Amino acid sequence: MIVCETREELKSRIFNWKKENQTIGFAPTMGYLHAGHISLFETSKSKADKTVVSIFVNPTQFNDPEDYLKYPLDLDGDLKKCEEAGVDLVFLPKKETIYPDGNPDFVMFQSGLQKNLCGRTRPNHFEGVMLVVSKLFHLVNPDFAFFGRKDYQQFRIIEEMVRILDFPIQIVGVPTLREKDGLAMSSRNVRLTEKERENANLIPRMFTLAEKLFKNGEKNPKVFHEILADFLLSSSSVKIDYIETVDPHTLQEKLTLDGEVLLAVAVFFGKTRLIDNELLRNFDSENIF
Ligand code: PAF
Repeated sequence: MIVCETREELKSRIFNWKKENQTIGFAPTMGYLHAGHISLFETSKSKADKTVVSIFVNPTQFNDPEDYLKYPLDLDGDLKKCEEAGVDLVFLPKKETIYPDGNPDFVMFQSGLQKNLCGRTRPNHFEGVMLVVSKLFHLVNPDFAFFGRKDYQQFRIIEEMVRILDFPIQIVGVPTLREKDGLAMSSRNVRLTEKERENANLIPRMFTLAEKLFKNGEKNPKVFHEILADFLLSSSSVKIDYIETVDPHTLQEKLTLDGEVLLAVAVFFGKTRLIDNELLRNFDSENIF
Protein backbone atom coordinates (compact mmCIF):
# COMPACT_ATOMS: atom_id res chain seq x y z
CA MET A 1 0.00 0.00 0.00
CA ILE A 2 1.33 3.41 -0.98
CA VAL A 3 1.09 6.20 1.61
CA CYS A 4 1.75 9.69 0.31
CA GLU A 5 1.55 13.15 1.79
CA THR A 6 2.33 15.46 -1.11
CA ARG A 7 0.28 16.54 -4.11
CA GLU A 8 3.21 15.75 -6.41
CA GLU A 9 3.56 12.12 -5.36
CA LEU A 10 -0.20 11.58 -5.41
CA LYS A 11 -0.51 13.05 -8.91
CA SER A 12 2.35 11.03 -10.33
CA ARG A 13 0.96 7.74 -8.89
CA ILE A 14 -2.49 8.50 -10.31
CA PHE A 15 -0.99 9.56 -13.64
CA ASN A 16 0.81 6.21 -13.97
CA TRP A 17 -2.34 4.24 -13.18
CA LYS A 18 -4.40 6.27 -15.66
CA LYS A 19 -1.72 5.67 -18.31
CA GLU A 20 -2.31 1.93 -17.78
CA ASN A 21 -6.07 2.49 -18.19
CA GLN A 22 -6.74 1.56 -14.57
CA THR A 23 -9.96 3.00 -13.10
CA ILE A 24 -9.76 4.81 -9.78
CA GLY A 25 -12.23 4.54 -6.90
CA PHE A 26 -11.95 7.16 -4.17
CA ALA A 27 -13.24 7.29 -0.59
CA PRO A 28 -12.55 10.59 1.20
CA THR A 29 -12.50 10.21 5.00
CA MET A 30 -11.56 12.10 8.13
CA GLY A 31 -10.00 8.97 9.65
CA TYR A 32 -10.80 7.07 12.84
CA LEU A 33 -11.96 4.36 10.49
CA HIS A 34 -14.65 1.84 11.38
CA ALA A 35 -16.53 -0.93 9.56
CA GLY A 36 -18.71 1.66 7.78
CA HIS A 37 -15.60 3.10 6.10
CA ILE A 38 -14.32 -0.38 5.27
CA SER A 39 -17.57 -1.04 3.40
CA LEU A 40 -16.86 2.10 1.29
CA PHE A 41 -13.43 0.67 0.45
CA GLU A 42 -14.90 -2.75 -0.36
CA THR A 43 -17.51 -1.22 -2.62
CA SER A 44 -14.72 0.71 -4.35
CA LYS A 45 -12.68 -2.46 -4.81
CA SER A 46 -15.65 -4.16 -6.42
CA LYS A 47 -16.09 -1.33 -8.95
CA ALA A 48 -12.64 0.12 -9.68
CA ASP A 49 -9.15 -1.24 -10.41
CA LYS A 50 -7.43 0.93 -7.80
CA THR A 51 -8.79 2.23 -4.50
CA VAL A 52 -7.57 5.53 -3.07
CA VAL A 53 -8.49 6.71 0.44
CA SER A 54 -7.79 10.16 1.86
CA ILE A 55 -7.51 10.82 5.58
CA PHE A 56 -7.83 14.52 6.35
CA VAL A 57 -9.71 16.21 9.18
CA ASN A 58 -10.96 19.18 7.23
CA PRO A 59 -10.96 22.38 9.33
CA THR A 60 -13.24 24.33 6.99
CA GLN A 61 -16.27 22.11 7.65
CA PHE A 62 -16.37 22.51 11.45
CA ASN A 63 -18.59 25.33 12.66
CA ASP A 64 -17.53 24.52 16.24
CA PRO A 65 -13.74 24.83 16.80
CA GLU A 66 -13.97 22.56 19.87
CA ASP A 67 -15.55 19.83 17.73
CA TYR A 68 -12.59 20.10 15.31
CA LEU A 69 -10.00 19.93 18.08
CA LYS A 70 -11.76 16.97 19.70
CA TYR A 71 -12.09 14.98 16.48
CA PRO A 72 -10.69 11.47 17.27
CA LEU A 73 -7.43 10.42 15.57
CA ASP A 74 -5.78 7.04 15.19
CA LEU A 75 -3.40 7.20 12.26
CA ASP A 76 -1.55 3.93 12.94
CA GLY A 77 -4.81 2.04 13.40
CA ASP A 78 -6.27 3.65 10.26
CA LEU A 79 -3.29 2.69 8.09
CA LYS A 80 -3.47 -0.89 9.36
CA LYS A 81 -7.19 -1.05 8.53
CA CYS A 82 -6.59 0.36 5.03
CA GLU A 83 -3.83 -2.16 4.42
CA GLU A 84 -6.03 -5.06 5.60
CA ALA A 85 -8.89 -3.84 3.40
CA GLY A 86 -6.62 -3.92 0.34
CA VAL A 87 -6.55 -0.14 -0.26
CA ASP A 88 -3.95 0.75 -2.91
CA LEU A 89 -3.07 4.29 -1.85
CA VAL A 90 -3.69 6.44 1.22
CA PHE A 91 -3.38 10.20 0.77
CA LEU A 92 -2.50 11.91 4.05
CA PRO A 93 -2.26 15.62 3.30
CA LYS A 94 -1.31 18.24 5.86
CA LYS A 95 -3.54 21.29 6.30
CA GLU A 96 -1.04 23.40 4.30
CA THR A 97 -1.12 20.89 1.44
CA ILE A 98 -4.87 21.31 0.98
CA TYR A 99 -5.06 24.99 1.93
CA PRO A 100 -1.66 26.50 1.00
CA ASP A 101 -3.01 30.06 1.37
CA GLY A 102 -5.01 29.37 4.54
CA ASN A 103 -8.80 29.07 4.37
CA PRO A 104 -9.79 30.36 0.93
CA ASP A 105 -12.13 33.31 0.53
CA PHE A 106 -14.47 31.22 -1.60
CA VAL A 107 -17.91 29.81 -0.87
CA MET A 108 -19.89 27.02 -2.52
CA PHE A 109 -23.55 26.95 -1.57
CA GLN A 110 -26.65 25.07 -2.73
CA SER A 111 -29.55 26.96 -1.22
CA GLY A 112 -32.15 24.22 -1.80
CA LEU A 113 -30.28 21.18 -0.52
CA GLN A 114 -28.69 23.07 2.37
CA LYS A 115 -31.86 24.73 3.63
CA ASN A 116 -32.94 21.97 6.03
CA LEU A 117 -31.48 19.29 8.32
CA CYS A 118 -27.77 19.86 9.16
CA GLY A 119 -27.68 22.84 6.77
CA ARG A 120 -29.98 24.67 9.19
CA THR A 121 -28.16 23.79 12.41
CA ARG A 122 -24.50 23.61 11.28
CA PRO A 123 -23.84 26.87 9.44
CA ASN A 124 -20.93 26.71 6.93
CA HIS A 125 -20.56 22.94 7.31
CA PHE A 126 -21.53 21.90 3.77
CA GLU A 127 -19.66 24.86 2.27
CA GLY A 128 -16.50 23.37 3.84
CA VAL A 129 -17.39 19.83 2.73
CA MET A 130 -17.96 20.89 -0.91
CA LEU A 131 -14.74 22.89 -0.91
CA VAL A 132 -12.53 20.07 0.36
CA VAL A 133 -14.25 17.37 -1.70
CA SER A 134 -13.85 19.44 -4.90
CA LYS A 135 -10.17 19.97 -4.17
CA LEU A 136 -9.67 16.26 -3.43
CA PHE A 137 -11.56 15.32 -6.60
CA HIS A 138 -9.18 17.50 -8.65
CA LEU A 139 -6.12 16.00 -6.97
CA VAL A 140 -7.22 12.34 -7.10
CA ASN A 141 -9.09 12.52 -10.39
CA PRO A 142 -11.22 9.42 -9.63
CA ASP A 143 -13.74 7.63 -11.85
CA PHE A 144 -15.94 6.72 -8.86
CA ALA A 145 -16.31 8.26 -5.41
CA PHE A 146 -17.97 6.58 -2.43
CA PHE A 147 -20.01 8.24 0.31
CA GLY A 148 -21.95 6.72 3.21
CA ARG A 149 -25.72 7.16 3.20
CA LYS A 150 -25.65 7.80 6.95
CA ASP A 151 -24.61 11.32 5.95
CA TYR A 152 -27.44 11.39 3.44
CA GLN A 153 -27.57 15.16 3.02
CA GLN A 154 -23.82 15.24 2.33
CA PHE A 155 -24.24 12.44 -0.23
CA ARG A 156 -27.04 14.34 -2.05
CA ILE A 157 -25.12 17.63 -1.96
CA ILE A 158 -22.00 16.00 -3.46
CA GLU A 159 -24.09 14.17 -6.05
CA GLU A 160 -25.66 17.45 -7.11
CA MET A 161 -22.36 19.38 -7.02
CA VAL A 162 -20.79 16.80 -9.35
CA ARG A 163 -23.78 17.01 -11.71
CA ILE A 164 -23.85 20.83 -11.81
CA LEU A 165 -20.07 21.31 -12.12
CA ASP A 166 -19.59 18.46 -14.61
CA PHE A 167 -17.07 16.50 -12.61
CA PRO A 168 -16.57 13.28 -14.64
CA ILE A 169 -17.11 11.15 -11.54
CA GLN A 170 -19.80 8.62 -10.65
CA ILE A 171 -20.96 9.16 -7.06
CA VAL A 172 -21.93 5.97 -5.25
CA GLY A 173 -23.98 6.02 -2.02
CA VAL A 174 -23.13 3.12 0.28
CA PRO A 175 -25.75 1.83 2.80
CA THR A 176 -25.29 2.58 6.51
CA LEU A 177 -23.64 -0.12 8.61
CA ARG A 178 -25.11 -0.61 12.09
CA GLU A 179 -24.01 -1.99 15.44
CA LYS A 180 -25.90 -5.01 16.87
CA ASP A 181 -28.43 -2.76 18.62
CA GLY A 182 -29.04 -0.78 15.43
CA LEU A 183 -26.92 2.31 16.20
CA ALA A 184 -25.35 3.63 12.98
CA MET A 185 -21.57 3.27 12.93
CA SER A 186 -19.83 6.61 13.30
CA SER A 187 -16.40 7.86 14.35
CA ARG A 188 -18.22 9.95 16.96
CA ASN A 189 -19.62 6.91 18.83
CA VAL A 190 -16.34 6.54 20.78
CA ARG A 191 -17.03 9.87 22.48
CA LEU A 192 -20.17 8.49 24.19
CA THR A 193 -19.95 7.50 27.85
CA GLU A 194 -21.19 4.01 28.70
CA LYS A 195 -24.58 5.38 29.75
CA GLU A 196 -24.88 7.61 26.66
CA ARG A 197 -23.97 4.66 24.43
CA GLU A 198 -26.79 2.63 26.04
CA ASN A 199 -29.23 5.48 25.45
CA ALA A 200 -28.08 6.01 21.86
CA ASN A 201 -30.08 3.00 20.73
CA LEU A 202 -33.13 5.19 21.22
CA ILE A 203 -32.43 6.35 17.64
CA PRO A 204 -32.89 2.95 15.90
CA ARG A 205 -35.79 2.20 18.25
CA MET A 206 -37.34 5.51 17.24
CA PHE A 207 -37.05 4.43 13.58
CA THR A 208 -39.01 1.26 14.38
CA LEU A 209 -41.72 3.40 15.96
CA ALA A 210 -41.68 5.75 12.94
CA GLU A 211 -42.15 2.84 10.53
CA LYS A 212 -45.20 1.69 12.50
CA LEU A 213 -46.70 5.19 12.55
CA PHE A 214 -46.07 5.61 8.84
CA LYS A 215 -47.57 2.23 7.96
CA ASN A 216 -50.57 2.99 10.16
CA GLY A 217 -51.16 6.04 7.96
CA GLU A 218 -50.02 8.98 10.11
CA LYS A 219 -49.72 11.74 7.50
CA ASN A 220 -49.36 14.84 9.65
CA PRO A 221 -45.66 15.74 10.06
CA LYS A 222 -46.29 17.79 13.22
CA VAL A 223 -48.02 14.90 15.01
CA PHE A 224 -45.40 12.45 13.69
CA HIS A 225 -42.49 14.59 14.95
CA GLU A 226 -44.11 15.15 18.34
CA ILE A 227 -44.59 11.42 18.96
CA LEU A 228 -40.98 10.68 17.94
CA ALA A 229 -39.62 13.56 20.04
CA ASP A 230 -41.54 12.34 23.12
CA PHE A 231 -40.04 8.90 22.58
CA LEU A 232 -36.46 10.25 22.39
CA LEU A 233 -36.96 12.54 25.35
CA SER A 234 -37.79 9.56 27.55
CA SER A 235 -34.08 9.78 28.42
CA SER A 236 -33.00 12.94 30.24
CA SER A 237 -29.50 12.91 28.63
CA VAL A 238 -31.02 13.50 25.17
CA LYS A 239 -31.24 16.87 23.45
CA ILE A 240 -32.86 16.97 20.02
CA ASP A 241 -31.15 19.09 17.38
CA TYR A 242 -33.76 18.23 14.75
CA ILE A 243 -36.30 15.65 13.64
CA GLU A 244 -37.32 16.32 10.04
CA THR A 245 -39.28 14.57 7.32
CA VAL A 246 -38.18 15.60 3.82
CA ASP A 247 -38.38 14.55 0.19
CA PRO A 248 -35.34 12.24 -0.33
CA HIS A 249 -34.39 13.92 -3.61
CA THR A 250 -34.97 17.64 -3.01
CA LEU A 251 -34.58 17.52 0.80
CA GLN A 252 -37.53 19.90 1.07
CA GLU A 253 -39.92 19.51 3.98
CA LYS A 254 -42.88 17.18 3.29
CA LEU A 255 -46.16 18.89 4.07
CA THR A 256 -47.94 15.57 4.16
CA LEU A 257 -46.28 12.21 4.78
CA ASP A 258 -46.92 10.14 1.69
CA GLY A 259 -44.90 8.47 -1.11
CA GLU A 260 -41.24 8.48 -0.13
CA VAL A 261 -40.19 10.26 3.02
CA LEU A 262 -36.70 10.65 4.42
CA LEU A 263 -36.86 10.79 8.20
CA ALA A 264 -33.64 12.40 9.41
CA VAL A 265 -32.55 13.17 12.96
CA ALA A 266 -29.69 14.82 14.80
CA VAL A 267 -29.58 14.14 18.51
CA PHE A 268 -27.14 15.09 21.29
CA PHE A 269 -26.28 12.45 23.86
CA GLY A 270 -24.42 14.58 26.38
CA LYS A 271 -22.04 16.63 24.23
CA THR A 272 -21.93 14.17 21.33
CA ARG A 273 -24.12 14.88 18.34
CA LEU A 274 -25.21 11.86 16.29
CA ILE A 275 -27.09 11.90 13.00
CA ASP A 276 -29.03 9.15 11.28
CA ASN A 277 -31.80 8.75 8.72
CA GLU A 278 -34.24 6.24 7.34
CA LEU A 279 -36.28 6.07 4.18
CA LEU A 280 -40.00 5.49 4.77
CA ARG A 281 -41.91 4.25 1.77
CA ASN A 282 -45.41 3.32 0.83
CA PHE A 283 -45.43 -0.09 -0.83
CA ASP A 284 -46.34 1.35 -4.23
CA SER A 285 -43.41 3.82 -4.48
CA GLU A 286 -40.18 2.88 -6.26
CA ASN A 287 -37.07 2.05 -4.24
CA ILE A 288 -34.46 4.80 -4.70
CA PHE A 289 -31.98 3.26 -2.21
O1 PAF B 1 -17.88 12.47 5.61
C1 PAF B 1 -16.73 12.86 5.93
O2 PAF B 1 -15.98 12.17 6.62
C2 PAF B 1 -16.27 14.23 5.46
O3 PAF B 1 -17.32 15.15 5.45
C3 PAF B 1 -15.56 14.20 4.10
C4 PAF B 1 -16.47 13.75 2.98
C5 PAF B 1 -14.35 13.27 4.19
C6 PAF B 1 -15.05 15.60 3.74
O4 PAF B 1 -14.13 16.07 4.68
